[in-house]
Amino acid sequence: MARDLARRQAGYGRSPRQRIETDAAEILGGMRHGRTLGGPVSLIVWNADHANWGAAMSAWAVDDAAIEDVAARRSRKVVVPRPGHADLSGVMKYELDDVRDVLERASARETCARVAVGAICKDLLALLGITVHGHVTRIGAVACPAQPDLSAADFARLDSSETGCLHAETEARMIAEIDAAKADRDTLGGIVEVRIFGCPPGLGSYTEPRLRLDARLAAAAVGIQAMKGVELGDGFANASLRGSQVHDEIAFVGGSFRRSTNRAGGLEGGMSNGEPIVVRIAMKPLPTLMRPLQTATIDTHESAAALVERSDTTAVAAAAVVAEAVMAYEVARCVREKFGGDSVGDMISTVAAYLERIAWRREP
Ligand SMILES: Cc1cc2nc3c(=O)[nH]c(=O)nc-3n(C[C@H](O)[C@H](O)[C@H](O)COP(=O)(O)O)c2cc1C
Repeated sequence: MARDLARRQAGYGRSPRQRIETDAAEILGGMRHGRTLGGPVSLIVWNADHANWGAAMSAWAVDDAAIEDVAARRSRKVVVPRPGHADLSGVMKYELDDVRDVLERASARETCARVAVGAICKDLLALLGITVHGHVTRIGAVACPAQPDLSAADFARLDSSETGCLHAETEARMIAEIDAAKADRDTLGGIVEVRIFGCPPGLGSYTEPRLRLDARLAAAAVGIQAMKGVELGDGFANASLRGSQVHDEIAFVGGSFRRSTNRAGGLEGGMSNGEPIVVRIAMKPLPTLMRPLQTATIDTHESAAALVERSDTTAVAAAAVVAEAVMAYEVARCVREKFGGDSVGDMISTVAAYLERIAWRREP
Protein backbone atom coordinates (compact mmCIF):
# COMPACT_ATOMS: atom_id res chain seq x y z
CA MET A 1 0.00 0.00 0.00
CA ALA A 2 2.81 2.40 0.94
CA ARG A 3 4.56 1.61 -2.35
CA ASP A 4 1.45 2.40 -4.41
CA LEU A 5 0.76 5.60 -2.48
CA ALA A 6 4.34 6.71 -3.19
CA ARG A 7 3.98 5.78 -6.88
CA ARG A 8 0.80 7.91 -7.08
CA GLN A 9 2.69 10.92 -5.74
CA ALA A 10 5.68 10.45 -8.05
CA GLY A 11 6.07 11.05 -11.77
CA TYR A 12 7.94 13.58 -13.86
CA GLY A 13 5.90 16.77 -14.24
CA ARG A 14 4.09 16.71 -10.87
CA SER A 15 3.80 19.92 -8.87
CA PRO A 16 5.62 20.72 -5.59
CA ARG A 17 2.29 19.85 -3.88
CA GLN A 18 3.51 16.24 -3.85
CA ARG A 19 6.49 17.23 -1.69
CA ILE A 20 4.41 18.79 1.08
CA GLU A 21 3.71 15.40 2.59
CA THR A 22 4.20 11.69 2.04
CA ASP A 23 0.86 9.92 1.88
CA ALA A 24 0.44 7.08 4.34
CA ALA A 25 -2.67 5.03 5.05
CA GLU A 26 -3.51 4.33 8.65
CA ILE A 27 -5.67 1.26 9.27
CA LEU A 28 -8.49 2.11 11.67
CA GLY A 29 -10.22 -1.26 11.82
CA GLY A 30 -10.89 -4.62 10.19
CA MET A 31 -7.32 -5.94 10.57
CA ARG A 32 -5.28 -7.54 13.31
CA HIS A 33 -1.63 -8.54 13.20
CA GLY A 34 -1.47 -7.99 9.45
CA ARG A 35 -4.56 -10.06 8.57
CA THR A 36 -8.04 -8.95 7.60
CA LEU A 37 -10.74 -10.32 9.89
CA GLY A 38 -13.80 -10.52 7.65
CA GLY A 39 -15.40 -7.21 8.60
CA PRO A 40 -14.96 -3.99 6.64
CA VAL A 41 -11.39 -2.64 6.56
CA SER A 42 -11.37 1.02 7.46
CA LEU A 43 -8.44 3.27 6.60
CA ILE A 44 -7.57 6.94 6.54
CA VAL A 45 -5.02 8.99 4.62
CA TRP A 46 -4.41 12.25 6.51
CA ASN A 47 -4.09 15.46 4.53
CA ALA A 48 -1.21 17.26 6.29
CA ASP A 49 -1.55 20.30 4.01
CA HIS A 50 -4.95 21.03 5.57
CA ALA A 51 -3.17 22.40 8.65
CA ASN A 52 -1.53 25.08 6.46
CA TRP A 53 -4.95 26.46 5.47
CA GLY A 54 -6.22 27.07 9.01
CA ALA A 55 -9.16 29.46 9.17
CA ALA A 56 -9.45 29.59 5.37
CA MET A 57 -10.83 26.07 5.33
CA SER A 58 -12.52 26.09 8.74
CA ALA A 59 -15.74 24.10 8.96
CA TRP A 60 -17.27 26.99 10.93
CA ALA A 61 -17.69 30.69 10.20
CA VAL A 62 -14.54 32.65 11.07
CA ASP A 63 -14.02 36.17 12.34
CA ASP A 64 -12.25 37.98 9.44
CA ALA A 65 -10.24 40.13 11.84
CA ALA A 66 -8.79 37.05 13.49
CA ILE A 67 -7.39 35.63 10.26
CA GLU A 68 -3.66 36.08 9.74
CA ASP A 69 -2.38 37.55 6.47
CA VAL A 70 -1.72 34.29 4.66
CA ALA A 71 -5.00 32.80 5.73
CA ALA A 72 -6.79 36.00 4.76
CA ARG A 73 -5.32 35.82 1.29
CA ARG A 74 -6.35 32.22 1.02
CA SER A 75 -9.83 32.79 2.31
CA ARG A 76 -10.55 35.35 -0.37
CA LYS A 77 -13.18 34.02 -2.67
CA VAL A 78 -12.16 32.41 -5.94
CA VAL A 79 -14.50 33.75 -8.62
CA VAL A 80 -12.57 32.82 -11.78
CA PRO A 81 -13.60 29.27 -12.84
CA ARG A 82 -11.10 27.29 -14.92
CA PRO A 83 -12.16 26.00 -18.33
CA GLY A 84 -11.92 22.19 -18.23
CA HIS A 85 -12.42 21.91 -14.47
CA ALA A 86 -15.50 21.26 -12.31
CA ASP A 87 -15.46 24.89 -11.12
CA LEU A 88 -18.29 26.58 -13.05
CA SER A 89 -20.83 23.76 -13.23
CA GLY A 90 -20.03 22.98 -9.58
CA VAL A 91 -20.86 26.44 -8.20
CA MET A 92 -24.03 26.57 -10.30
CA LYS A 93 -25.20 23.12 -9.25
CA TYR A 94 -24.63 23.51 -5.49
CA GLU A 95 -25.53 27.22 -5.24
CA LEU A 96 -22.04 28.22 -4.10
CA ASP A 97 -20.32 31.59 -4.48
CA ASP A 98 -16.71 30.46 -4.13
CA VAL A 99 -14.99 28.15 -6.62
CA ARG A 100 -12.80 26.84 -3.78
CA ASP A 101 -15.87 25.06 -2.40
CA VAL A 102 -15.86 22.97 -5.58
CA LEU A 103 -12.23 22.57 -6.45
CA GLU A 104 -10.99 20.88 -3.29
CA ARG A 105 -13.55 18.09 -3.51
CA ALA A 106 -13.31 17.79 -7.31
CA SER A 107 -9.52 17.52 -7.16
CA ALA A 108 -7.79 14.20 -7.78
CA ARG A 109 -6.31 14.43 -4.30
CA GLU A 110 -8.98 11.92 -3.23
CA THR A 111 -7.50 9.28 -5.54
CA CYS A 112 -4.98 8.49 -2.79
CA ALA A 113 -7.86 6.75 -0.96
CA ARG A 114 -8.72 4.77 -4.08
CA VAL A 115 -5.07 3.75 -4.48
CA ALA A 116 -4.96 2.56 -0.85
CA VAL A 117 -8.10 0.46 -1.33
CA GLY A 118 -6.81 -0.82 -4.67
CA ALA A 119 -3.64 -2.05 -2.96
CA ILE A 120 -5.75 -4.29 -0.70
CA CYS A 121 -7.64 -5.58 -3.76
CA LYS A 122 -4.36 -6.27 -5.56
CA ASP A 123 -3.14 -8.29 -2.56
CA LEU A 124 -6.31 -10.40 -2.65
CA LEU A 125 -6.06 -10.91 -6.41
CA ALA A 126 -2.37 -11.85 -6.19
CA LEU A 127 -3.31 -14.75 -3.90
CA LEU A 128 -5.42 -16.05 -6.79
CA GLY A 129 -2.66 -15.50 -9.37
CA ILE A 130 -4.21 -12.33 -10.83
CA THR A 131 -1.99 -9.25 -11.24
CA VAL A 132 -2.95 -5.74 -12.38
CA HIS A 133 -0.43 -3.35 -13.96
CA GLY A 134 -0.82 0.20 -15.23
CA HIS A 135 1.70 1.98 -17.44
CA VAL A 136 1.95 5.05 -19.64
CA THR A 137 2.01 4.64 -23.42
CA ARG A 138 1.67 8.30 -24.44
CA ILE A 139 2.38 11.75 -23.00
CA GLY A 140 1.25 14.57 -25.28
CA ALA A 141 2.61 13.96 -28.78
CA VAL A 142 5.12 11.30 -27.66
CA ALA A 143 3.93 7.68 -27.81
CA CYS A 144 5.82 4.44 -27.26
CA PRO A 145 5.73 1.68 -29.89
CA ALA A 146 3.11 -1.07 -29.51
CA GLN A 147 4.22 -3.72 -27.01
CA PRO A 148 1.72 -6.56 -27.52
CA ASP A 149 3.81 -9.21 -25.77
CA LEU A 150 4.35 -7.56 -22.40
CA SER A 151 4.31 -10.07 -19.54
CA ALA A 152 3.54 -9.41 -15.89
CA ALA A 153 7.28 -9.64 -15.10
CA ASP A 154 8.06 -6.75 -17.49
CA PHE A 155 6.22 -4.34 -15.22
CA ALA A 156 8.90 -4.63 -12.52
CA ARG A 157 10.89 -2.21 -14.69
CA LEU A 158 8.40 0.55 -13.85
CA ASP A 159 10.08 1.03 -10.48
CA SER A 160 12.94 2.79 -12.23
CA SER A 161 10.76 4.89 -14.55
CA GLU A 162 9.98 8.57 -13.93
CA THR A 163 7.17 8.68 -16.46
CA GLY A 164 5.52 5.31 -15.89
CA CYS A 165 6.61 4.26 -19.39
CA LEU A 166 8.23 0.85 -20.00
CA HIS A 167 10.11 1.92 -23.10
CA ALA A 168 13.38 3.60 -22.12
CA GLU A 169 13.98 5.46 -25.38
CA THR A 170 10.43 6.87 -25.39
CA GLU A 171 10.77 7.91 -21.76
CA ALA A 172 13.60 10.30 -22.62
CA ARG A 173 11.41 11.93 -25.29
CA MET A 174 8.47 12.12 -22.87
CA ILE A 175 10.63 13.99 -20.37
CA ALA A 176 11.64 16.48 -23.07
CA GLU A 177 7.95 16.89 -24.00
CA ILE A 178 7.05 17.63 -20.36
CA ASP A 179 9.93 20.10 -19.98
CA ALA A 180 8.79 21.94 -23.12
CA ALA A 181 5.16 22.15 -21.92
CA LYS A 182 6.28 23.37 -18.51
CA ALA A 183 8.47 26.05 -20.10
CA ASP A 184 5.40 27.19 -22.06
CA ARG A 185 3.41 27.15 -18.79
CA ASP A 186 1.09 24.61 -20.42
CA THR A 187 -0.14 21.10 -19.53
CA LEU A 188 -0.23 17.66 -21.16
CA GLY A 189 -2.46 14.61 -21.23
CA GLY A 190 -1.70 11.15 -22.52
CA ILE A 191 -2.69 7.50 -22.58
CA VAL A 192 -2.60 4.97 -19.78
CA GLU A 193 -2.83 1.24 -20.39
CA VAL A 194 -3.83 -1.33 -17.77
CA ARG A 195 -3.11 -5.03 -18.30
CA ILE A 196 -4.60 -7.68 -16.04
CA PHE A 197 -2.93 -11.08 -16.11
CA GLY A 198 -4.20 -14.40 -14.76
CA CYS A 199 -7.95 -13.67 -14.82
CA PRO A 200 -9.86 -16.92 -15.26
CA PRO A 201 -12.59 -16.94 -17.92
CA GLY A 202 -16.07 -16.01 -16.69
CA LEU A 203 -15.58 -12.97 -14.45
CA GLY A 204 -18.50 -10.57 -15.05
CA SER A 205 -21.65 -11.69 -16.85
CA TYR A 206 -23.65 -11.23 -20.06
CA THR A 207 -26.93 -11.80 -18.17
CA GLU A 208 -27.43 -8.18 -17.09
CA PRO A 209 -25.82 -5.00 -18.45
CA ARG A 210 -24.74 -3.85 -15.00
CA LEU A 211 -22.86 -7.10 -14.42
CA ARG A 212 -20.73 -6.85 -17.57
CA LEU A 213 -17.03 -6.73 -16.72
CA ASP A 214 -16.25 -4.58 -19.77
CA ALA A 215 -18.87 -1.99 -18.73
CA ARG A 216 -17.58 -1.95 -15.17
CA LEU A 217 -13.97 -1.47 -16.23
CA ALA A 218 -14.96 1.33 -18.62
CA ALA A 219 -17.02 3.09 -15.93
CA ALA A 220 -14.16 2.74 -13.43
CA ALA A 221 -11.77 4.21 -16.01
CA VAL A 222 -13.82 7.34 -16.71
CA GLY A 223 -14.60 7.61 -13.01
CA ILE A 224 -11.05 8.91 -12.64
CA GLN A 225 -10.71 12.68 -13.05
CA ALA A 226 -9.61 13.82 -16.52
CA MET A 227 -10.11 10.43 -18.24
CA LYS A 228 -12.08 11.02 -21.44
CA GLY A 229 -11.75 7.90 -23.61
CA VAL A 230 -11.63 4.15 -23.07
CA GLU A 231 -10.55 1.38 -25.42
CA LEU A 232 -11.01 -2.31 -24.56
CA GLY A 233 -8.50 -4.47 -26.40
CA ASP A 234 -7.99 -3.14 -29.92
CA GLY A 235 -11.52 -1.66 -29.88
CA PHE A 236 -10.91 1.38 -32.10
CA ALA A 237 -8.59 -0.33 -34.60
CA ASN A 238 -11.00 -3.29 -34.83
CA ALA A 239 -13.83 -0.99 -35.90
CA SER A 240 -12.28 -0.55 -39.35
CA LEU A 241 -11.43 -4.23 -39.96
CA ARG A 242 -13.44 -7.27 -41.02
CA GLY A 243 -14.61 -9.89 -38.55
CA SER A 244 -12.18 -12.43 -39.96
CA GLN A 245 -9.31 -10.05 -39.16
CA VAL A 246 -10.49 -9.29 -35.65
CA HIS A 247 -11.90 -12.25 -33.71
CA ASP A 248 -9.43 -14.35 -31.75
CA GLU A 249 -9.54 -17.97 -32.89
CA ILE A 250 -10.02 -20.68 -30.27
CA ALA A 251 -7.86 -23.80 -29.87
CA PHE A 252 -7.59 -26.44 -27.19
CA VAL A 253 -3.85 -26.76 -26.60
CA GLY A 254 -1.94 -28.40 -23.74
CA GLY A 255 -5.16 -29.28 -21.91
CA SER A 256 -6.54 -25.74 -21.95
CA PHE A 257 -8.53 -23.33 -24.15
CA ARG A 258 -6.26 -20.71 -25.73
CA ARG A 259 -6.49 -17.87 -28.27
CA SER A 260 -3.90 -17.36 -30.96
CA THR A 261 -4.35 -13.58 -30.72
CA ASN A 262 -5.85 -11.17 -28.15
CA ARG A 263 -7.51 -8.38 -30.13
CA ALA A 264 -10.54 -8.56 -27.84
CA GLY A 265 -8.34 -7.58 -24.90
CA GLY A 266 -9.45 -10.58 -22.83
CA LEU A 267 -13.13 -9.54 -22.85
CA GLU A 268 -16.02 -11.25 -24.68
CA GLY A 269 -19.72 -11.08 -23.84
CA GLY A 270 -19.07 -8.86 -20.83
CA MET A 271 -16.87 -11.57 -19.29
CA SER A 272 -13.18 -12.27 -19.04
CA ASN A 273 -12.17 -14.95 -21.57
CA GLY A 274 -8.92 -16.00 -19.90
CA GLU A 275 -6.55 -13.91 -22.03
CA PRO A 276 -4.85 -10.84 -20.50
CA ILE A 277 -7.32 -7.97 -20.12
CA VAL A 278 -6.19 -4.79 -21.88
CA VAL A 279 -7.77 -1.39 -21.15
CA ARG A 280 -6.48 1.89 -22.62
CA ILE A 281 -7.58 5.21 -21.20
CA ALA A 282 -7.13 8.68 -22.71
CA MET A 283 -6.38 11.48 -20.24
CA LYS A 284 -6.99 15.09 -21.25
CA PRO A 285 -4.39 17.82 -20.56
CA LEU A 286 -4.83 19.16 -17.02
CA PRO A 287 -7.12 22.21 -16.79
CA THR A 288 -5.03 24.40 -14.45
CA LEU A 289 -2.68 26.35 -16.69
CA MET A 290 0.11 28.60 -15.43
CA ARG A 291 -0.71 30.76 -18.47
CA PRO A 292 -4.46 30.85 -17.83
CA LEU A 293 -7.23 30.72 -20.41
CA GLN A 294 -9.99 33.31 -20.46
CA THR A 295 -13.04 32.89 -18.27
CA ALA A 296 -15.89 35.01 -16.85
CA THR A 297 -16.20 35.77 -13.14
CA ILE A 298 -19.06 34.07 -11.31
CA ASP A 299 -20.13 37.26 -9.49
CA THR A 300 -19.84 40.18 -11.95
CA HIS A 301 -19.68 38.07 -15.16
CA GLU A 302 -16.71 40.13 -16.43
CA SER A 303 -13.99 38.52 -18.50
CA ALA A 304 -10.91 37.56 -16.53
CA ALA A 305 -7.99 35.16 -16.47
CA ALA A 306 -8.86 31.77 -14.97
CA LEU A 307 -7.56 30.65 -11.59
CA VAL A 308 -3.84 29.90 -11.42
CA GLU A 309 -2.88 27.55 -8.63
CA ARG A 310 -0.07 25.14 -7.79
CA SER A 311 -0.65 22.37 -10.32
CA ASP A 312 0.96 19.52 -12.22
CA THR A 313 2.26 19.92 -15.78
CA THR A 314 1.13 16.37 -16.36
CA ALA A 315 -0.11 13.56 -14.14
CA VAL A 316 -0.34 10.65 -16.57
CA ALA A 317 2.12 8.53 -14.54
CA ALA A 318 0.05 9.05 -11.39
CA ALA A 319 -3.13 8.32 -13.33
CA ALA A 320 -1.67 4.94 -14.35
CA VAL A 321 -1.36 4.05 -10.66
CA VAL A 322 -4.93 5.20 -9.99
CA ALA A 323 -6.19 3.25 -13.03
CA GLU A 324 -4.43 0.13 -11.76
CA ALA A 325 -6.19 0.57 -8.39
CA VAL A 326 -9.71 1.10 -9.74
CA MET A 327 -9.38 -1.84 -12.16
CA ALA A 328 -8.15 -4.05 -9.31
CA TYR A 329 -11.19 -2.99 -7.27
CA GLU A 330 -13.61 -3.93 -10.07
CA VAL A 331 -11.95 -7.28 -10.76
CA ALA A 332 -11.87 -8.07 -7.02
CA ARG A 333 -15.63 -7.37 -6.85
CA CYS A 334 -16.24 -9.75 -9.75
CA VAL A 335 -14.06 -12.37 -8.08
CA ARG A 336 -16.06 -12.02 -4.86
CA GLU A 337 -19.32 -12.34 -6.77
CA LYS A 338 -18.21 -15.46 -8.63
CA PHE A 339 -16.26 -17.30 -5.95
CA GLY A 340 -17.60 -15.87 -2.66
CA GLY A 341 -16.21 -17.49 0.48
CA ASP A 342 -15.65 -16.10 3.94
CA SER A 343 -11.91 -16.70 3.94
CA VAL A 344 -9.16 -16.52 1.36
CA GLY A 345 -8.62 -20.27 1.82
CA ASP A 346 -12.25 -20.99 0.87
CA MET A 347 -11.95 -18.73 -2.13
CA ILE A 348 -8.73 -20.36 -3.33
CA SER A 349 -10.37 -23.82 -3.09
CA THR A 350 -13.43 -22.65 -5.05
CA VAL A 351 -11.27 -21.09 -7.75
CA ALA A 352 -9.21 -24.29 -8.05
CA ALA A 353 -12.37 -26.44 -8.42
CA TYR A 354 -13.73 -24.07 -11.09
CA LEU A 355 -10.48 -24.05 -13.09
CA GLU A 356 -10.44 -27.85 -12.98
CA ARG A 357 -14.03 -28.01 -14.27
CA ILE A 358 -13.43 -25.63 -17.18
CA ALA A 359 -10.02 -27.07 -18.05
CA TRP A 360 -8.19 -23.75 -17.85
CA ARG A 361 -4.55 -23.39 -16.97
CA ARG A 362 -2.59 -20.18 -16.67
CA GLU A 363 0.14 -19.50 -19.20
CA PRO A 364 3.40 -20.82 -17.69
C1 LIG B 1 -3.68 11.85 -10.64
C2 LIG B 1 -4.33 13.11 -11.15
C3 LIG B 1 -3.75 14.34 -10.87
C4 LIG B 1 -4.33 15.53 -11.32
N1 LIG B 1 -3.70 16.69 -11.07
C5 LIG B 1 -4.25 17.85 -11.55
C6 LIG B 1 -3.59 19.10 -11.36
O1 LIG B 1 -2.53 19.20 -10.74
N2 LIG B 1 -4.17 20.20 -11.89
C7 LIG B 1 -5.35 20.15 -12.58
O2 LIG B 1 -5.83 21.17 -13.04
N3 LIG B 1 -6.00 18.98 -12.78
C8 LIG B 1 -5.48 17.84 -12.28
N4 LIG B 1 -6.13 16.65 -12.50
C9 LIG B 1 -7.37 16.64 -13.31
C10 LIG B 1 -8.55 17.26 -12.61
O3 LIG B 1 -8.77 16.68 -11.34
C11 LIG B 1 -9.82 17.12 -13.49
O4 LIG B 1 -9.53 17.55 -14.78
C12 LIG B 1 -10.95 17.94 -12.89
O5 LIG B 1 -11.35 17.36 -11.65
C13 LIG B 1 -12.19 18.01 -13.80
O6 LIG B 1 -12.74 16.76 -14.03
P1 LIG B 1 -12.81 16.12 -15.50
O7 LIG B 1 -11.49 16.40 -16.16
O8 LIG B 1 -13.02 14.66 -15.26
O9 LIG B 1 -13.92 16.75 -16.26
C14 LIG B 1 -5.55 15.46 -12.06
C15 LIG B 1 -6.14 14.22 -12.31
C16 LIG B 1 -5.54 13.05 -11.89
C17 LIG B 1 -6.18 11.72 -12.20
